[in-house]
Amino acid sequence: MIRILDTPEAVYRAAAWQWMKAALDGAPGIIGLATGTTTTPIHKIITELYAAQPFDTARLSMCAVDDYVGIPEGNIAGCGERVRRQLVRPLGLSAEQVLLPDTFHGEDAPEKYERAIEARGGIKLQILGLGRDGHIGFNYPGTPLNSTAHNVTLPQSTKDTLKRLYALPEERMPTLGLTLGIRSIMMSKAILVAVTGRDKAQTVADALRGPVSERMPASVLQLHRDVLWLLDEEAASLL
Ligand code: GLP
Repeated sequence: MIRILDTPEAVYRAAAWQWMKAALDGAPGIIGLATGTTTTPIHKIITELYAAQPFDTARLSMCAVDDYVGIPEGNIAGCGERVRRQLVRPLGLSAEQVLLPDTFHGEDAPEKYERAIEARGGIKLQILGLGRDGHIGFNYPGTPLNSTAHNVTLPQSTKDTLKRLYALPEERMPTLGLTLGIRSIMMSKAILVAVTGRDKAQTVADALRGPVSERMPASVLQLHRDVLWLLDEEAASLL
């Protein structure tokens, strides 16, 4: 389903309420998070709602779709750290309520992460942002559609974003990321994709109207039966 909203703020609000719905539905399973610039304001609205009217978070369980390999805890550039700062602490959650990949130990970390998610009943709602080249998580163009969690060499575009947003110096720049795969994402019961801005309008059009292809990872979402695209008018302008 596609919902087109007037403004980016309306997209953030609608996404926050979808998160709330999943958080409060009492059903087992995890809420999967993305940690880009689009999801930051969504998380802020969630914490504002919680601050105004606290709700029961005892059974809440969340995970991150991806993270950089080797960014230490405490560094805001890390996706796990952003999950901790943006949601875990403001909502008063325990560390056990949030699954994050272990990006420091071992080649089997992706597989272990995938298994840990399955052991908690899988992902009931995966929230995604959209990369300009159509990537979801760190699944860049060319990623096999049947991929499970894996390590990935980060492209220069992602390193440039890290540098721009978090002023990460070259010597601390990660070269690898760990991401849930396309198949792992497709196993989620429901998926929400939040996209704003004219610079992603072509990507949105290709993902929603173009052929399903490894060259456009987000196009695979056409094959999922419960996907909600929340778009502002600019992101939807080429549909
Ligand atoms: C990043 C992340 C994704 C994120 C996406 C869009 O590379 N790996 O998890 O959702 O790209 O980011 P943004 O919302 O900042 O455009």
